[in-house]
Amino acid sequence: MVLSLLEKVARYGIRASAGKGYNKVKGLVLEPYYRHKHRRAPSYSNPSDGELKQIEEGLHSHGNTLKTLTISREDFQEFKDRLPFPSYYFSHDAVLRNEKLLEHFIAYEMCNLQDAVSASASANAKDFLYLDVAGSGSPWVQVLNENGINAVSIDLQLSPSFRHLEFYREMDATKTDFDAASVDGISLQCAYEMFIGDNDRLLVDECVRILKPGGSVIIVPLYMHTHYCGYSTLEYYGKGFADPGATEYIRLGFPGVPFSRKYDVEKLNERVISRAEQQGMACEIYALQDKDSLGEGVYCHFVLKMTKALDT
Ligand SMILES: C[S@@+](CC[C@H](N)C(=O)[O-])C[C@H]1O[C@@H](n2cnc3c(N)ncnc32)[C@H](O)[C@@H]1O
Repeated sequence: MVLSLLEKVARYGIRASAGKGYNKVKGLVLEPYYRHKHRRAPSYSNPSDGELKQIEEGLHSHGNTLKTLTISREDFQEFKDRLPFPSYYFSHDAVLRNEKLLEHFIAYEMCNLQDAVSASASANAKDFLYLDVAGSGSPWVQVLNENGINAVSIDLQLSPSFRHLEFYREMDATKTDFDAASVDGISLQCAYEMFIGDNDRLLVDECVRILKPGGSVIIVPLYMHTHYCGYSTLEYYGKGFADPGATEYIRLGFPGVPFSRKYDVEKLNERVISRAEQQGMACEIYALQDKDSLGEGVYCHFVLKMTKALDT
């Protein structure tokens, strides 16, 4: 107990450790209160397989470009071997770790990072720039930099473990410091749904600004539902973080999420696709096939790829 306290102070510093301790106590006191207060709040459930099919049909009938995405188990394994993530990343949950690695693999493939890895020794490798938007505590860009790729992670809040690395930067992704047309590829792993308020729309504009012509932004997973909704964790439920018009559900079991948005087909088109297309982006939605072959508990289903036109 004393050792673990000392380890925390060494790792996060005195102020952050005190803050974490305070939050733990606050959580212990407030959780029972909120549980009681919101005992009748509707709980969130992921769409069933049948509902995912229904959403796919809705995308088709809306005229969205919907493609299938098949990933070979061997290619996924080769990625894990070639660019190994540190063992501490989701070390507590092998199923979740596999899901997270899969999301990174999809981003890697769709941002053509394999070409960048192969070309990393070449003279123009330094002109290549990849952004992990809302990278949080992911070691991904550290792994990429160790393999010769110029990669930067940005997030509203920096993880203390990466603060000392110049390629982890604290920044609002809707208004970044990057020059116009300076970025080759962008991806968001399990993050876009957390862009609360207008930030999902503003991120589209910022990606259009900073991507080079022909560059893509990948959203993986793209969370969808049969109806426009989302969930808030206990401490945020009913406090106005949900989008107006979206059904707000509660999610128990973990804290820290003001609102995690799930689009229905209409809202996806209204908020994201039309805005991107109006600015010259080509939008493709992918539905992941044969998930069971990629490991237990894979939940990623939709992926959104938006590519900036070459002539802009
Ligand atoms: C679930 S975490 C992302 C997990 C991470 N990508 C991974 O794969 O481990 C969601 C993150 O989105 C970040 N975020 C939300 N809005 C943002 C914004 N406007 N700009 C940058 N980051 C943002 C939050 O700070 C949070 O760290």
